[in-house]
Amino acid sequence: MSASSFLEGNACVVGLQWGDEGKGKIVDFLSEQADVIVRYCGGANAGHSVMINGVKHSTHLLPVGVFREHTLNLIGNGVVLDPQKLLEEIEVNTRKGFSITPRTLKVSYKTHVVMPWHKLEDAAREAAAGAGGIGTTKRGIGPTYADKMHRTSAIRVGDLLREASLKEKIERITTDKNKVFSALYGEKPLDARTIFEEYSEYGRKIAPFVDDTGYLLIQAWRAGKKILFEGAHAALLDVDHGTYPYVTSSSCSTLGLFSGTGAPPQCVRQYIGIMKAYSTRVGGGPFPTEQDNEIGQRIRDRGNEYGTTTRRPRRCGWFDAVAVKYSVDLCGVTSVALMLLDVLSGFDQIKICTGYRVKGERIPYFRTDVETLAEVEPVYETLPGWQTDLSECRSFESLPREARDYIDRLQTLIGVPIRMVSVGPDRSATLIR
Ligand code: GDP
Ligand code: IMO
Ligand code: MG
Repeated sequence: MSASSFLEGNACVVGLQWGDEGKGKIVDFLSEQADVIVRYCGGANAGHSVMINGVKHSTHLLPVGVFREHTLNLIGNGVVLDPQKLLEEIEVNTRKGFSITPRTLKVSYKTHVVMPWHKLEDAAREAAAGAGGIGTTKRGIGPTYADKMHRTSAIRVGDLLREASLKEKIERITTDKNKVFSALYGEKPLDARTIFEEYSEYGRKIAPFVDDTGYLLIQAWRAGKKILFEGAHAALLDVDHGTYPYVTSSSCSTLGLFSGTGAPPQCVRQYIGIMKAYSTRVGGGPFPTEQDNEIGQRIRDRGNEYGTTTRRPRRCGWFDAVAVKYSVDLCGVTSVALMLLDVLSGFDQIKICTGYRVKGERIPYFRTDVETLAEVEPVYETLPGWQTDLSECRSFESLPREARDYIDRLQTLIGVPIRMVSVGPDRSATLIR
């Protein structure tokens, strides 16, 4: 199977665990063959890293396609946009020599804007909840999506370009938010004029990038362009289908790509699931296979498991085939990329969770209700490990037998072909079979 065949009929890359599976690396790898890269969910709470010629680059809002010269990059309506962060990202990456212009980047006018009150609310709610909080990235994501649903207190990218009505909206919303923040959190009032000045300036800077991305997408599809949808977060963080309430606030499984972009369902044929060779999670919530011990620490050290967005240490544990199988089924996954296999070198034995027990009873499927998930006891299968460093392997056949057996076992358990195996962060450390 060649890299270009992954894009036949267009493709969506989606995380199958709790985020940070290496989606950025695979989007970068596949984008060589793609014409259009589209973000459909989340915001600057995502952090996607790519390694190009030994140098690491990260994006939070920009699609990873900005690192290729030939691609058109779209930020769909399902995203929530922090304009300050977007402009910063454009500036940083332009300084590094990447060309990010209104020709290569388009932002939907329907995209909702993260406003200062959203970041304030996110931080205040987390602080008030203490240990009972979600452990959010404090990027204002949840409050922005909440206002999207409220409608009358929302601001979209298109609104930033209409100064008179923007001023009126900011004044009205700030008055309301100040009452709430003062009563609930004892916060100092926000100043509507300062916010208007700052955000109308962002509007002027972003205006050349703003477009009807849904229309552009349909045009691209009709013209036979190869389109790659870049999922952020992961299926288990999906607001409806993840481990609620320890999720993010968007539809970040594959199910969100249509509402988040305006693409019609028949536009996408391939759903490429991304999974690590083990499990990680940032923030709160149950994590059945967590290894809060020296095994977890070893994975964290070897995998450099610290968040791209917040630098928080990621919680680490063994691969959970029950959880991933759930995500595979939910997302309609057609093939899988197995990431960070090199990190598992050096273990004498490697465990895979193949089932759950609750109060002694075996349950055959994943449970997203956190009350049950917090109680499950993982049932493990143990496989022999391998001692060789995998990072220089460049073909599937050159992997040690134990590593190939591990891959085959995972494939059987999740029920879809593992077509890509990644053994290092660089583009070249990607094996296809
Ligand atoms: P994303 O959010 O799914 O795009 O993943 P992140 O970029 O947040 O985290 C994945 C991290 O793993 C990044 O630092 C990547 O450079 C790194 N990475 C990706 N694939 C591999 C791999 O196969 N081996 C190793 N050692 N690192 C990898
Ligand atoms: P990428 O795209 C890992 C987690 C946060 C927190 C919860 C809610 O890089 O894989 P939020 O700020 O979204 O309200 O936080 O969701 N979370 C992620 N964890 N990778 C991500 O994105 C994440 N996006 C959100 O840590 O537990
Ligand atoms: Mg990440």
